[in-house]
Amino acid sequence: MPIVVVVGGQWGDEGKGRIVDLLARKARVVARYSAGNNAGHTIVNERGEFKLHLVPAGIFYPDKTCVIGNGVAVDPEVLLDEITNLQEKGIDTSRLVVSDRAQVIMPWHKELDRLDEAMRGDAAIGTTGKGVGPCFVDKVARRGIRVADLLRPEDLNPRVETALEYQNRVITGVYGGEPIDMSECIEKYHQLGLRLAPYVGDAQAVVLDAHRRGDTVLLEGAQGSLLDLDHGTYPYVTSSVPSSSSSGAGLGVGIGPTAIQRVVGVFKSYSTRVGNGPFPTELFDSTAERLRDHGKEFGRGEYGTTTGRPRRIGWLDAVSSRYSVRFNGLSALALTRLDVLDGLETIKICTGYELDGKVVDTLPARQSVLERVRPIYEEMPGWTDATSEVRNFDDLPKAAQAFIRRVEQLLECPVDLISVGPSREQAIIVNPIF
Ligand code: GDP
Ligand code: IMO
Ligand code: MG
Repeated sequence: MPIVVVVGGQWGDEGKGRIVDLLARKARVVARYSAGNNAGHTIVNERGEFKLHLVPAGIFYPDKTCVIGNGVAVDPEVLLDEITNLQEKGIDTSRLVVSDRAQVIMPWHKELDRLDEAMRGDAAIGTTGKGVGPCFVDKVARRGIRVADLLRPEDLNPRVETALEYQNRVITGVYGGEPIDMSECIEKYHQLGLRLAPYVGDAQAVVLDAHRRGDTVLLEGAQGSLLDLDHGTYPYVTSSVPSSSSSGAGLGVGIGPTAIQRVVGVFKSYSTRVGNGPFPTELFDSTAERLRDHGKEFGRGEYGTTTGRPRRIGWLDAVSSRYSVRFNGLSALALTRLDVLDGLETIKICTGYELDGKVVDTLPARQSVLERVRPIYEEMPGWTDATSEVRNFDDLPKAAQAFIRRVEQLLECPVDLISVGPSREQAIIVNPIF
């Protein structure tokens, strides 16, 4: 049985949590491999509506093991709150394993995230402010604290002393901020470590053993591929590797690239982005408002799951999406929020960019150039019938079928799954993904 990666194809919030919740039914292990609580994954199932930031979306099935891999940045306070909230709603969290090799988001990371964004001024990235970027900086600088370090004072104390002495100099000297108290910090994180201890383990072994037994493992991506540190719209990206390329997924749980059989890319039927950075198909008109506020009365509009910020809205961008399909090596697409397009008279897809009078069909590397490209649109007729109750491709309005077929052509990848609503059953399985 396969290892399957579910990866966001655009700028995040494509509906990864919702797709993993659906696919997890046939998996044995569900593992998060990157990012931290900058992610916000919404799951609507028979247990209610949940917004998960760190716990994998498989947690709602009583027989799945859920893993937080070594590639994740863990804020222990946030994770423990999330676990408590799930337990209060009757969800069993005893099958959660947190990698002892995962990095820990420390108080200075959150402070540095805030101070650094303020110092960038107009050029701010628009981060979620959760300390994820500075945590990954410290990982690469070999100054990070890992989950294993939290468990014993003899490991924790010297690592915090070294890191915080350095970071307090940066906070006060570079940013003019207030230093963080060393002993308070050590005591607090030691206590958090004690509470987290029952969940800490060798997460890599859990994934490898499942693979060896022939069990299906789902790797749950966070963010979107266009926020990828290497392949995204740099510098307006996140500080980890959300994509499956460079084996970001394998790296984040500790498996080799040959173990991965399928990579499913989740794409919205249009585009959204939170935070700053280029967005060639961004709309500022009444269509943007309409798409943003679809389902707003139920708290389901396009507003950030983690920060509540209104998401920027645009038409589907086949240029950046095809690029994402290619560098992820996608084997299938899951197209979400098709129902949000119901009732639009026409639907546009960006098929190329115009740059200085020429047509470009790949994503330029230079940010200043990407800011200048103008989208070239192809227009397709919309449909009036509601799609949210449809469960078979052939029952979709003909115009919706034509839209999906065109997406497959432009993105050069088959659409195997279509989501027509936030709930688990609101899906059209065109081809079983595994
Ligand atoms: P993620 O970060 O990729 O997991 O996505 P988010 O949870 O941040 O945002 C996706 C939003 O779309 C959530 O509110 C989901 O409940 C909702 N959603 C997912 N699929 C569909 C769909 O097909 N139709 C509608 N209307 N909403 C959906
Ligand atoms: P999910 O998993 C959408 C964006 C931020 C900002 C940039 C850098 O729910 O799809 P960071 O805090 O990571 O340093 O911010 O990345 N960003 C996301 N946007 N969905 C997410 O996660 C995101 N995680 C980070 O808005 O532009
Ligand atoms: Mg999200």
